[in-house]
Amino acid sequence: MKKMLKTGAFLLLLLFLLVQLYRPALNIKQGQAGSAGFVQFYRPPLAVGNILANSCYDCHSNNTNYKWYQYIQPVQVFTQGHINSGKEVLNFNEWNNYPNRKQKRLLQSIKKQIESKKMPLNSYTLLHRNARLNELQVKTLINWFENQISLN
Ligand code: HEC
Repeated sequence: MKKMLKTGAFLLLLLFLLVQLYRPALNIKQGQAGSAGFVQFYRPPLAVGNILANSCYDCHSNNTNYKWYQYIQPVQVFTQGHINSGKEVLNFNEWNNYPNRKQKRLLQSIKKQIESKKMPLNSYTLLHRNARLNELQVKTLINWFENQISLN
């Protein structure tokens, strides 16, 4: 019995080491400031830009600020899945390339996601505690997005 446990533990360790060999590409684009795109487009107050960068850019921009454990498998694969689907629907860096209709729809969608507390994802804020939005941050964002929507 003891020997079986030892063999099992060894096999698990081996499997863990083997999956580390799998290295999907990281979401890092050198030379592209995290604030390019959306912030250049609207020039929002610093506070708005900072909150978005801090709470949203890890999944909705071309640069993710990885934590050490996100380089480890299978965490990295899980992280990459979120980044891929997040960027596909909304990439703040690509904002200026979006057609006007899409920008309008996204402004509404962003406001809705923040209001309903769906974003940032709970599975993310569990470990990225400083990305959680407090009441003041939510208010700041909602006010700005509402205003922007009325101007569009
Ligand atoms: C951990 C990754 C992650 C973070 C952080 C994150 N999102 Fe998302 N977001 C996603 C994913 C994945 C989707 C795709 C839809 C889904 O599965 O919910 C998404 C979808 C969205 C959508 C829907 C787009 C559409 O097509 O209408 C909006 C808007 C959005 N996010 C805004 C935000 C905002 C604003 C923040 C910051 C306050 C944020 N997200 C933070 C991963 C993330």
